[in-house]
Amino acid sequence: MLDNLEQQPADALLALIKLHNADPRADKIDLGVGVYRTGQGETPVFGAIKAAEKKLVETQDSKAYLGPEGDMGFVEALMPYVFGKDAPSMGGRIEGMQTPGGTGSLRLAFAMAKRAGIRCMWMGNPTWPNHPQICKDLGIEMKTFSHATPDGVADMDGIRGAIAEAEPGDAILLHGCCHNPTGIDYSSAQWDEIAPLLAEAKLLPIIDLAYQGLGHGMEEDAYGVRRVAVSVPELLVTQSCDKNFGLYRDRTGALYVMTAEPDQLPAVMSNAHALARANWSQPPDHGAAAVRLVLEDEKLTAQWLDELDQMRERMRQVRAKLGAAGKTGGVDLTPLGGQNGLFSIIPFTPEQVQAMREKHGIYFAGSGRINVAGLTAGNIDQFIEAVADVTG
Ligand SMILES: Cc1ncc(COP(=O)(O)O)c(C=O)c1O
Repeated sequence: MLDNLEQQPADALLALIKLHNADPRADKIDLGVGVYRTGQGETPVFGAIKAAEKKLVETQDSKAYLGPEGDMGFVEALMPYVFGKDAPSMGGRIEGMQTPGGTGSLRLAFAMAKRAGIRCMWMGNPTWPNHPQICKDLGIEMKTFSHATPDGVADMDGIRGAIAEAEPGDAILLHGCCHNPTGIDYSSAQWDEIAPLLAEAKLLPIIDLAYQGLGHGMEEDAYGVRRVAVSVPELLVTQSCDKNFGLYRDRTGALYVMTAEPDQLPAVMSNAHALARANWSQPPDHGAAAVRLVLEDEKLTAQWLDELDQMRERMRQVRAKLGAAGKTGGVDLTPLGGQNGLFSIIPFTPEQVQAMREKHGIYFAGSGRINVAGLTAGNIDQFIEAVADVTG
């Protein structure tokens, strides 16, 4: 039977890592992998997480099962950061559960939406490749709209058109902040326009919040989620702590569900729990327990926010330098200065991507997506010169 399975294409980013590793040049640059890097090129464990992990080792007295919802202390401690301190549960209309990272949360959200009978899922193009991959695996029909214009800003006509064409009962997936792969987010004014349109069109919004705090700050980056939450009756938010707490491989995330009325939550959440049981039974504990300990402790919370500020500040500096380079060879780097998060796309041709790799030892995805955190004071000039060389 296993012989019936066809070879699947290799993961392009993993193939890129192999190529980068095999390159002997000392000044090679990796802008492919989607993790934060310090000015020294490292992806360290947050100090606040290290401290919480120590505490966890000393105090955790059982590893007995918690149930499909995972660590509810974690889920509830995180809720005010996502939905705001004033009304984190929107009057008892929001409940969450822990999931294995943002990916686990997306898997649950999409599966719930399918169970609920959505007609199709709208998503911007481009988007994170795992979004369509999960949809495809679940057999959900997808429709796309243009996310960004060639001059590097959000394509409002694209989303307006999609909402106008969508039918009641369609779902729409939006990135809460730090759009992957473009770095192009909706401004507050644009969210103000989009949120009521979603409500009028009776769509089920699913907001992917995988990079909260990496754009403008924890509060600022939650604007879209909160604006939509006060406008629509129902909402799913897929949250990840893997970037903003640096927990990547510890797979730490949450799914938040908002229903029209509080008494609808138990039935809806029973479906989320049943789907979790069928997928992974329960989420891994460690990362969420560490985040809970950080958020339960004022000093550790302040330390975490400080570390997150430093990360964001560094990425802002890199972006400012790229933006200031302006017209570079045949491309304009100006828009990168105002974009958010780890990623941006530079409109390289496939030949230019190859030349960046072969001639200059600079590695990134074929789509032209770069991870700006791979740039440092030591290599950014080299990068800008290489861009000028291959596109000039
Ligand atoms: C847009 C987006 N959503 C969700 C995720 C999921 O993150 P994780 O499953 O690692 O928490 C990622 C990770 O790269 C992402 O880029």
